[in-house]
Parts: sequence; C-alpha cells; structure tokens
Amino acid sequence: MELHRHIQITDDGELEIGGCRATRLARDFGTPLHIMDEMTMRSKCSEIKRSLSKHFPRVFVAYASKAFCTLAMCRLVHEEFLGLDVCSGGELYTAIEAGIPPENILFHGNCKTLSEIEMGVRVGVGRFIVDNLDELDLLSEISRRFRRRVHVQIRLNPGVEAHTHHYIQTGLIDSKFGLGITDGQAMKAVERTLASEYLVLEGVHIHIGSQILAVEPYVVATQVVMDFVGDVKEKFGYSLREVNLGGGFGVRYKSTDTPFSLDEYAERVSEVIRESCHIQRLDFPSIMVEPGRYIVGEAGTTLYTVHAIKDIPGVRKYVMVDGGMSENPRVTLYQAEYEAILANRALEEPVVTVTIAGKHCEEGDVLISDVDMPRANPGDLVAVFTTGAYHYSMSGNYNRYPRPAVIFVRAGLADVVVERESYVNLLARDRMPARLMQIGARSSEPHLPAAGNPG
Ligand code: LLP
Repeated sequence: MELHRHIQITDDGELEIGGCRATRLARDFGTPLHIMDEMTMRSKCSEIKRSLSKHFPRVFVAYASKAFCTLAMCRLVHEEFLGLDVCSGGELYTAIEAGIPPENILFHGNCKTLSEIEMGVRVGVGRFIVDNLDELDLLSEISRRFRRRVHVQIRLNPGVEAHTHHYIQTGLIDSKFGLGITDGQAMKAVERTLASEYLVLEGVHIHIGSQILAVEPYVVATQVVMDFVGDVKEKFGYSLREVNLGGGFGVRYKSTDTPFSLDEYAERVSEVIRESCHIQRLDFPSIMVEPGRYIVGEAGTTLYTVHAIKDIPGVRKYVMVDGGMSENPRVTLYQAEYEAILANRALEEPVVTVTIAGKHCEEGDVLISDVDMPRANPGDLVAVFTTGAYHYSMSGNYNRYPRPAVIFVRAGLADVVVERESYVNLLARDRMPARLMQIGARSSEPHLPAAGNPG
C-alpha cells in the first residue's frame, strides 16, 4: 500500500502523523479519533492556487466547507487566503464566528429557507449562488427590503455525466440542483436577475459531482457553460464576468485510485474557455472553483481500537473496532472503499484477510470488507486513511454513540479542534415532559422475570 506523503512509519513500526505517534494520540485523546494533518491541508490550499493561477488570469478558490466544517478549519483556509463555500445557515454561522470576512463567502443550497436568505443578506455574503427561480424571487424581495445589493451567480444544470457514484453526481438533467439550460429555466433566471433592483448578476456556476477522477467531464461541462455565457451576451448584451466551476476533484482512497493533476485540469479547462472567448468575442472571465475533498480528504486519518475478533472458519474473520457507520456513513451510502493498517504494528507483514466491522447494531456496519493485515488482537490500533472529507461533517449519533474528537497535528503538536462528545452532551437537548415522570413514578414493577433458575 502506498501511504500518503505525510504519513510515516517509525523504525519501531508505529504510524506517525504530523510528528505524532498513533499510540500517544490514542492514549491522550481516546479512540475513535479523527486526526487531520495540518500541513497537508495547508499545502493543498497553496497547490491549488498555484496550479490554477498558472492558467487563469483571475482565480478565486473557495473551500467547500461541507467536506469538513469547524471553526479551526474555517480559520485555516482563511489564513491560506482561500474563500469559503457554505451551504447552510449552520455553516455560514460557523464561518462568521471563525472570523471569515463575509465578502469571501459563497452561499449555496438548493432549498435555502427564508431565515437563511435573510441571514446571508444581513451578513453580506460575497455571492449568493441561486439554485432555482423561487429562491431568486425571494432573494430579490429580501434584498429590496434590506436595501442591500446582493451579488448573484446562477447555478446551471449542465446536463453532463460525471463518472462517479450516482448519489454524488449532480450535473444530470434529472437533478434537484441548478437551473436547466435546455428547458429555458436558466435563461429565465438571468432575465429576472437583470430586472431585479438590488440583484447584481456576476456569473454562473456549475458543480457536476464529487470524487471525479477524470478531467473530461469538466471539459464538456465548461463548454456548455461557455456556450451559455455566449448566449446571455447575445440575448441581453450582458457579459457574465464570473464562471464558477464548482468542486469535485477526486482524491486517492486506495492505492489504485489515480486522481488527475490540477495542472492538467487547469490547462484543459482554460483551453476551452480561451477558445470560447475567442469565438464568441467574450472577455476571459474570473474563474472560481470550490474544492472540498481535495483539501481535506487525504489529510484525515481515523484511529480505532480493536475490541474483539470473530473468526468464522472458512467464511470470514471480523476485526471489530470502536466506531463505524456513525462516524463513517460513506461505506453504507456510497459503497466507499478504504485502506487501513495496524497502526501500532505497521511494519509487520499482512498475513490474513479480514473485514473491519464497526460496533453499530447493523449487519451492514462494515468499514472495510477485505483488507490484508497482520493478525490483530484486542487493544491493537487500526488506522483508516483518507477520512478527512465527509466523515466528521456527515457523522451522527446512531445507537447513541458520542461523536469522536477531531485533532489537528503538526510538527509533534496535537490540538483538539472538536471535543469528543460525552454522554452528558448526548442528553443536553433531551427534555423529559413532567407528565412522563409522573407515570414513571407509579409503575415501579420490575419488567424482567425474577433472576435465578427456578428449575
Ligand atoms: N460545490 C458544490 C456546489 C457542492 O455541492 C460540492 C459538494 C462541492 C463544491 C465540493 O465538492 P468536493 O470538491 O468536495 O467533491 N457526501 C459525498 C460528497 C457530496 C458532495 C456534495 N457537494 C461523499 O462523501 O462522497
């Protein structure tokens, strides 16, 4: 297995991330534990800006915070001079609390509520990415009520197939996202935006899907967008200054995954734009991208403790760990595949093929179906790689498991950025209606039969 650049194995066979040994992290912070390598995230931020600015005269990179959104993460991307894409009031609130200048925030969402739109207008987000005509009308009305200029990009549905899991493919015609080009909805949105008193139409947006491993779908989608930009110019004499190409850049989950390079992406996409601009007599637009997974995916590793082994001779060997689908729902949702090692015995040769199962009460709660490992024992540590994106952010409390802590590691330092949930936290918002307590007090009968075998 080829480990990510930032992951080391010490001479005595221990996994080390950001200069921190796995056993120390497990001891100090407990397991399951999400470990984020700070320097990896920072270098991804600078790599993406470097690659894109070689090919685009003006480029704005907004980190898609849905991949992993915490105060510390928002702060980190701000320090790296990236903007932020948010898609809910909660993400927007986190960004503002982290001190992100609102003008660097892009506000997404296919079903923004009235209060979310008001919040966005009140704080003054940099761009509203309008997803449908109802939202547009509401936004127009609210901007008038607040007497605030609101800068808008219209999300187009380009009708392009991205080769990825169909749950994370968003650019097809039959999608809840974006305004259709072929059915005239997108052009209608342009017309209404231009007619609105306080809305300023800046550009168009697409996002064709996630974990995309080939450049081709981007090339096709970019052409569709540029044709639309040309049509808008022709129809309204209006130049759309911004083209937002969304996110979706794939990362390496398994050694066999081969993501494209951002240089290749930028080169191919900029070619399409340059040519379209030439043919349609347009100025080269400002380009925006919204990577989420690319920035945090590979930086994340999740550490688990093995608690039990179940060997079904000739069938399967289960290695059971103290986490699972509540902090990694991606396996059950998208049949996602991962690689893992024994973090405390990382130099030992793999001798058995095992299934790493979680601790939830679901047969499908499996983290990895077949992985070769040394023979694991209770107390060993398992590290699952590439867990930085859409793990913490999609985690839940199924079976009332408290959510794991998240730490940032860097040069031997480890800092908590999200505390581990406690049982007390789990009950913090539970309420007991007084009348249920009264009923409870009346029935003190034991429900189990008397203990002991009467036999
Ligand atoms: N921009 C928009 C408008 C998006 O909807 C998304 C992701 C992104 C940017 C960032 O995409 P990324 O660069 O992270 O691929 N939960 C799924 C992924 C859902 C992505 C949703 N939208 C997963 O775990 O694979």
